[in-house]
Amino acid sequence: MKCITINLFLFFMLCFLFIGCNKNPTEKEISKTKLLFNNDSAQDNLLAEYLKELKNPVKSIIDTNWSKRIIDFSELFPVFVDNCTPCHIENGNAPFVLTSFESIRKKARVIREVMLGRLMPPFLADPHYSALVNAPRINDSTRWRIINWIDQGCKAAKQPYNKKIEEYFHTSDRRNYTTYEAEEHTINSNSDSYQCYVIDLGLKNDSFVRAIRYHSTNKSTIHHIMVYLDTANVLKSSPSCFDCMKKDVVNKLVPIDSWSRGMVAYQLSTDFAFKFPKGSKLLLQTHYGNEGNKGKKEKTTLDILYKTKPEREIKFEIANNLKIALPAYKVKTETLTFKPDTAISLIGCVPHMHFLAKKAELFAITNDNKKINILKINNWDYLWQGSYLFKNLIEIPAKSTIYMNVVYDNTSKNLQQPNNPIRDVKYDTYSNEEMMVLCLYTTVLKKGDKTKMPLEILR
Ligand code: HEC
Repeated sequence: MKCITINLFLFFMLCFLFIGCNKNPTEKEISKTKLLFNNDSAQDNLLAEYLKELKNPVKSIIDTNWSKRIIDFSELFPVFVDNCTPCHIENGNAPFVLTSFESIRKKARVIREVMLGRLMPPFLADPHYSALVNAPRINDSTRWRIINWIDQGCKAAKQPYNKKIEEYFHTSDRRNYTTYEAEEHTINSNSDSYQCYVIDLGLKNDSFVRAIRYHSTNKSTIHHIMVYLDTANVLKSSPSCFDCMKKDVVNKLVPIDSWSRGMVAYQLSTDFAFKFPKGSKLLLQTHYGNEGNKGKKEKTTLDILYKTKPEREIKFEIANNLKIALPAYKVKTETLTFKPDTAISLIGCVPHMHFLAKKAELFAITNDNKKINILKINNWDYLWQGSYLFKNLIEIPAKSTIYMNVVYDNTSKNLQQPNNPIRDVKYDTYSNEEMMVLCLYTTVLKKGDKTKMPLEILR
């Protein structure tokens, strides 16, 4: 990263010298220099945005002028279907369903609270920044409409729905999945603990995977699961997590997926698949992260959908900034950079940070200095680590650099501040330290990718 900043700085200086020497720069030259990307100012902008929002909290931003017209439930039902049922559905990640008028009315009181506090849907990627499959399209005036409907007594719809109820739910075909089980585990700690599980997939041939679905007997105990593929028979049995992390076992494995309760289940469209070579095993590295878990039992099961011949393979790549240094009582922006080897198309991404992270912006800068938006998260929340899946593939031409800027708030104004007293924080996997990790689902770029939809959400 430093290297890139310094190079950019030199580049700026050279341009400056060049323009300085040439008394009459052409218009083209001037606009070219204006276009030059400067990550320092991108960082500053993100920081300024965060500080402004800190001064004007949620309630004052919500449109209080929303008129008190009578809201008919028929106009809200599609909002619940689109924004809530990826999780609030039978067998979904959420603890109750919101799939009908009755089930929504039953939860109206808490729904009002989560609307007002902007707590649900749980991760607020900016829908104007990039087009995501699983981004909420729920703006503040829609939140206000839901609140008004509740305040008006949660009345049933007077107008008909636009579609028949069953047409709102495109139910995916769940046959043909193969199920695997991890061992049952009794959690032995009341704070962070890790446990590894090896699952032998019993693959006699190279295989291709379109979807992995995660189930657990006790989802609320899990903070997240990192999923690795062992293609070289490194793992004979489930390693202790200490061995797994400290002896660099994971470095010999291929990271392929992750799961947390912020995730929605999806399946790749028929062209795409992950390759699982013959004999591969899976390693699940599970982080149990909540208080009060000691003594609870948890067992994870996986459903895998195999396919025969994909046209395109998907890779899961990880970038890290191990050098983050967050001084006590400071708000600071850090940057992670990643330079793909070739031209790629992005299918999705999974940023990972802890409690100090507040805001994140992810974008690529091409070799000819064009900015490509990837993802902006306006209120990062540690509890809702999730994957962000793009509606269409995002083309990243060769020689581009991907940047992730994150604002970290290590002050007492951060309501999630994990340390008392407040202290300097560095990179570590413990949740009261910080991380800056970016996982990307990529595939080799093909012309016309921007029009391709790579996946569908499973309901
Ligand atoms: C990405 C998955 C996901 C989406 C999308 C989602 N939720 Fe949730 N929701 C959850 C989970 C998981 C919980 C349980 C949280 C817990 O146990 O701490 C939850 C909890 C809730 C609660 C209970 C909160 C409490 O304090 O008890 C309400 C109410 C709620 N969701 C409403 C909604 C509404 C309304 C939407 C859509 C506008 C929505 N959710 C979208 C996953 C989701």
